[in-house]
Amino acid sequence: MKPVIVRTRNELAAARARVEGTLAFVPTMGALHEGHLSLMRQARRSADSVAVSIFVNPLQFGPGEDFDRYPRTFDADAEACAGAGVDLIFAPTRDVMYPEEPQVTLKSGPMGEVVEGAARPGHFDGMLTVVLKLLNLVRPDVAIFGEKDAQQLAMIRRMVADLNVPVRVVGGPTVREPDGLALSSRNRYLSQAGRGTALALSRALQAGAEAAEDGADAVIAAASAVLGKAAAADPPLVLDYLVLVDQATFAPVASAGPAVLAVAGRVGSTHLIDNVHLQLGKEH
Ligand code: PAF
Repeated sequence: MKPVIVRTRNELAAARARVEGTLAFVPTMGALHEGHLSLMRQARRSADSVAVSIFVNPLQFGPGEDFDRYPRTFDADAEACAGAGVDLIFAPTRDVMYPEEPQVTLKSGPMGEVVEGAARPGHFDGMLTVVLKLLNLVRPDVAIFGEKDAQQLAMIRRMVADLNVPVRVVGGPTVREPDGLALSSRNRYLSQAGRGTALALSRALQAGAEAAEDGADAVIAAASAVLGKAAAADPPLVLDYLVLVDQATFAPVASAGPAVLAVAGRVGSTHLIDNVHLQLGKEH
């Protein structure tokens, strides 16, 4: 069955009132790829009905970022949602989400200022603001976010805990191309040569993960060796960060135990991120 498409808050409220049983929600900015579709299938397994939002949120883009050129592919997205068994698509305009210039917005706090938040100041404030608005409008039982955006997922979990938002937040695994490149809506900006350079991100993570037994320094050294080569490629990878952090707080981790190795860099003007979970030190 084709999903019901709603564009206004009144239409959404009416469609929400018709939902029987539990509702799982996958917020997106569109330009859907297999990574989004796997979240939708996960949503399908988690609840009686599935809602998806498609909204390119201006608040989470900084000056000079790609808000204007962010791919908008609504017809293909709606088709893909239908194939993934989505029941309801909420596709608001900017005026529906922000009828007035917002005065009250969320502040992501210190955790939103490190790692990706340091590379993109204000990004997490805008992201959390729209996610909270969407959760308030859609009122799902469960909301599903991709693990590729590991800090985003951690920030949303923290917002839900700190603000007592009545929703269960679940992560969905990163989907990769056969050669390891993490799927991202921004991959479509890459030239063939740029895609070759971008592969260094997942290869660096893999090299880092293989060195995990030898501890944090070995992980960073192994990953940096791969990234160093990509920095000399044509086009080059300009590294934004390579960090080992705690998955919940994004504070640096150096001692034995679980950690997230997160990397971000730019190929031309395309900002790409990736991460892997690993276990530092020898297993006892
Ligand atoms: O991950 C995304 O696509 C966006 O950050 C989200 C969660 C839909 C909020 O705009």
